[in-house]
Amino acid sequence: MSEQHTSPLAPQSAPPVSNTPQNALEIRDQIAAIKNLDELTEHREIVTFMRRSSPLNTSQRSALEDYQHLILDQHAEALQSGDLRLAFAQPERPLTVEIGFGMGRSLVQMAKANPERNYIGIEVHVPGIAQCVYEAGLAEIDNLRVIDGDAIKILTAMPDNSINCIQLYFPDPWQKKRHYKRRFVVPKRIALVEEKLEIGGTFHSATDWEHYAAWMLEVLSSRERLKNRAGEGNAFPRPDWRPMTKFERRGLEEGHVINDFIFEKIS
Ligand SMILES: C[S@@+](CC[C@H](N)C(=O)[O-])C[C@H]1O[C@@H](n2cnc3c(N)ncnc32)[C@H](O)[C@@H]1O
Repeated sequence: MSEQHTSPLAPQSAPPVSNTPQNALEIRDQIAAIKNLDELTEHREIVTFMRRSSPLNTSQRSALEDYQHLILDQHAEALQSGDLRLAFAQPERPLTVEIGFGMGRSLVQMAKANPERNYIGIEVHVPGIAQCVYEAGLAEIDNLRVIDGDAIKILTAMPDNSINCIQLYFPDPWQKKRHYKRRFVVPKRIALVEEKLEIGGTFHSATDWEHYAAWMLEVLSSRERLKNRAGEGNAFPRPDWRPMTKFERRGLEEGHVINDFIFEKIS
């Protein structure tokens, strides 16, 4: 399970990222427009999520109390210092940070399968946070902590070169053109990811949206500090160590194609 971090898996058969030259040009222009937007003061507070209020079920409600120790609140030393590695008894272990874990089942499965690593999940959806700690608590795993907050703010406070893997699975696709600036994968946010990853660390994203897949590939491929582990222009074959997520299943049911990308920080 941990081989994703140690051996360059040979890409064999990833689905093609559907990207005609015309598409690629349009996407490049759209990304350039986001770059300019990022430079304007009035756009600094753009967030990548929309808070949804939905009720907690009984087990989620009690999980927030019973497994409180799995949630880092603002008083936690790790959050106050910004160094999330301090949340764990063995802070020297490689750290994976997942942005937007949803209901958290796949994150719990990964943490369970990799006891030699530490995991932090960041989400703003409270029922998801409650469900995640419910499942982690029942599984008695101790290498996972979750945070209710904006991943961008939390990443910003982390020391540079401190994270071994940042994962972003099935992020909100923000399909309307005027919302593209809310996509997590834009040059400015990927620059933040690069700063926080260790050399040799990876950014792993997956999406079931064709336009976002081509967009991710374009943004990530243009970064000098990142190298595509699947080879230039390719998606990564779906790794069997990445558990199926809720949104992935939903995408598959709708007939969408899944694309994974794994980019390594090389400088
Ligand atoms: C489309 S859902 C996917 C959930 C899960 N990864 C899955 O595949 O089932 C995207 C999630 O990312 C969360 N999210 C988006 N931006 C975020 C941010 N900046 N910080 C924390 N969570 C974020 C949203 O709240 C939402 O639950």
